[in-house]
Amino acid sequence: MIELYHVTKRYPNGVSALTDIDVAVQAGEFCFLAGPSGAGKSTFIRLLLCIEPATEGQILIKGRNLRMLRPASIPYLRRNMGVVFQNFRLLPHRNVFDNVAIALEILGISRREIVPRVEQTLDMVGLSDFDRHMPQMLSGGEQQRVAIARALVNEPAILLADEPTGNLDPTLSLEILNIFSDIHRRGATVIFATHDVTLLDRVPARILSLNRGYLVSDSGARFVQRDTTDAVPGTAASDTPGFED
Ligand SMILES: Nc1ncnc2c1ncn2[C@@H]1O[C@H](COP(=O)(O)OP(=O)(O)OP(=O)(O)O)[C@@H](O)[C@H]1O
Ligand SMILES: [Mg+2]
Repeated sequence: MIELYHVTKRYPNGVSALTDIDVAVQAGEFCFLAGPSGAGKSTFIRLLLCIEPATEGQILIKGRNLRMLRPASIPYLRRNMGVVFQNFRLLPHRNVFDNVAIALEILGISRREIVPRVEQTLDMVGLSDFDRHMPQMLSGGEQQRVAIARALVNEPAILLADEPTGNLDPTLSLEILNIFSDIHRRGATVIFATHDVTLLDRVPARILSLNRGYLVSDSGARFVQRDTTDAVPGTAASDTPGFED
């Protein structure tokens, strides 16, 4: 699903954020991307999203080499990926429903289709009673659940999270981790970047540890879980439209 071959990322100021990373993540895996501040976790996620190009090496997502993608194809790539960041990035003047719906609006999906999909996704993150609330009326954990719903509503095959619990207390962090675990059980491939080592043994997952840009350990794909009986339509790779180059 996600393959990196000898990937190095040097920023223009000369900092080597990632050095010679070789790793493959299979469809349906839950991978933590662990490591201290500055390890290269966010850079790893930015490369997958094509926010930054790799300096050296190749990255393949669903068999497509990111180097070969035309800029016009990047939005198609991103349709396969939901992203959640540490600072929820909600639109302050839109209510919860609209903050989630926007991910479908920009794809040109009709209102008739949007309403049930947003409702179903809010239900999944436990926020079905909050759809008319404004973001500032919500707790940090609730805001992060809105951000997760927004990342999920398009039923992406891959869910990327960059420190999604960074602003939350330990109880809320676990709650958010459990939502990701749920999504994973429904078939999504999850990459969850965190420097919080207390989260790592809370769910069965592969742990990729970065330090100063090096992949220093990989616990291996110990658990590849798939619960096809309870699949969210479209989260399985085979249900998701591919992206063209
Ligand atoms: N845009 C940039 N320009 C130059 N250097 C950068 C840039 N972004 C990150 N870096 C550097 O690359 C290295 C890796 O940064 P990155 O943000 O990927 O680490 P991280 O593991 O996400 O850290 P944190 O846990 O603090 O979020 C750091 O040394 C950082 O200073
Ligand atoms: Mg980071």
